[in-house]
Amino acid sequence: MTDPARGPGSLPRRLAAVGLGGSLQRKLIWQFLAAAALAAVTLFLAIRVTADRAAEAAQDSVLAAATLALSEGLLAEDDELDLDLPPTVLSMLSAMGEDQVFYRVVLQGRTVTGYENLALPAAIPTGGEPVFYKTSLNGTPVRAASLTRTILFDGAQTDVQFALAQTRHGQAAIADAIARRAGFLGIGFFVLAVPMSLLAARAILGPIGQVADGVSRRGPQDLRPVAERVPPELAPFIAALNGFIRRLRLAHSRTETFIAEAAHHIRTPLSAIRAEAEVALHEAGDDNIRTRLRRVIRSAEECSRSASQLMDHALVMSRSDREVRGPVELGALLDGLIASMRPTADLRELSLRWRRPDEPVVVLGDRLLLETALRNILDNAIKYSNPDDAIDLLLEVSGREASVSVLDRGRGIAKADLASLAPRFQRGENVRDIVGSGLGLTMVTEVSDSHDGRFRLEPREGGGTCAHFSLPLA
Ligand SMILES: Nc1ncnc2c1ncn2[C@@H]1O[C@H](COP(=O)(O)OP(=O)(O)O)[C@@H](O)[C@H]1O
Ligand SMILES: [Mg+2]
Repeated sequence: MTDPARGPGSLPRRLAAVGLGGSLQRKLIWQFLAAAALAAVTLFLAIRVTADRAAEAAQDSVLAAATLALSEGLLAEDDELDLDLPPTVLSMLSAMGEDQVFYRVVLQGRTVTGYENLALPAAIPTGGEPVFYKTSLNGTPVRAASLTRTILFDGAQTDVQFALAQTRHGQAAIADAIARRAGFLGIGFFVLAVPMSLLAARAILGPIGQVADGVSRRGPQDLRPVAERVPPELAPFIAALNGFIRRLRLAHSRTETFIAEAAHHIRTPLSAIRAEAEVALHEAGDDNIRTRLRRVIRSAEECSRSASQLMDHALVMSRSDREVRGPVELGALLDGLIASMRPTADLRELSLRWRRPDEPVVVLGDRLLLETALRNILDNAIKYSNPDDAIDLLLEVSGREASVSVLDRGRGIAKADLASLAPRFQRGENVRDIVGSGLGLTMVTEVSDSHDGRFRLEPREGGGTCAHFSLPLA
């Protein structure tokens, strides 16, 4: 498969040709990538914040339990206080890592034991519930919990405030490890998003490319409306394109009608010129004048033939893009065509030999156009043959194809000419005195193209020319 973004007729190139510089695909990719980058950063931040909170919550619950255990280690006897630091306090806290632990016990505003410079929370905790806060001790940030416990001291109910703090290296290490993973996850997500954005941009622009390919593959005369199925977003674009094609078709058909009418108008006075010249030739005695009159007749004939060819050409051009298709039996069509051309062949003493299969050969097409094409092929064979020659016509079926071959023993075509005879008014080197317009093969090629057929001229072994015209069977 060719890369649609790089092929010679690729969409970006075509867009560039109309001045948009391939921006649509680039814009889409950039937008997808920007969205992916935003999503990756959001993912990273969300994981990071959640990880921080989770680590803090884990530390808080350990601190809460440890502070409670610490408070239970305080024993009061009369006016003596004794803090017996339970071993569970340190073992619990060491679970978070190699963090330092500090505590402080305050009774009636006085530090009984522990670090005097360990700050207490702004509000005194009540109800035995711990209060958590962040502070720093000797410049090191710590997380701390504090709770108040009421004890019987010196014969009275007295509040004792406990504070327990722990450095946050363990928590920070866990949060960092998770953040690193989140970072890799974000980068991985973005890296995956790059090919995905390319694919998505191509998938979105694909239908435009398909329509463009379909339209650009058409022949120059193919003015059928675009019928490709497209997403609804492209429907206005297709409607506008089809509206334009309709207008173009109308203009085109007006031009062809004008050419046909003009040719028709020319033919009538030409016939008059010819008739008058023939009468004058009959009556003229002077040889010089007779020669000139013969030239006039010949030119009028040539002109009239060209006008007929112009009319046929206009007909072919205006009908080839119209879907006037129906089953056409080629055997019967050729029978009629040969019968109508036999007098011309007889005039040049040519014999027409014709072979066809017994069963009908049916193709799908425009009968009038197929007849015009085959008439032009046969007309050429007759025109370019030498008197007394034989022309062979063959109708054959091979596979899913019907082919008509017209073989003559005429003057043949130079190899250099073979490839260049299809354009309008193009005639070969071999024409010499033969009257013609150079429109015949143009019509044949046009009809063949509009019927998905093939047309080929080639030199015939032993002299002459073979013309092959094939069409898919119905
Ligand atoms: N059967 C043939 N034998 C020799 N030359 C041919 C034959 N068919 C076509 N050609 C060459 O192809 C040219 C183009 O054919 P066509 O378009 O029908 O124009 P025209 O017949 O009016 O000259 C002719 O001028 C002629 O040179
Ligand atoms: Mg011709």
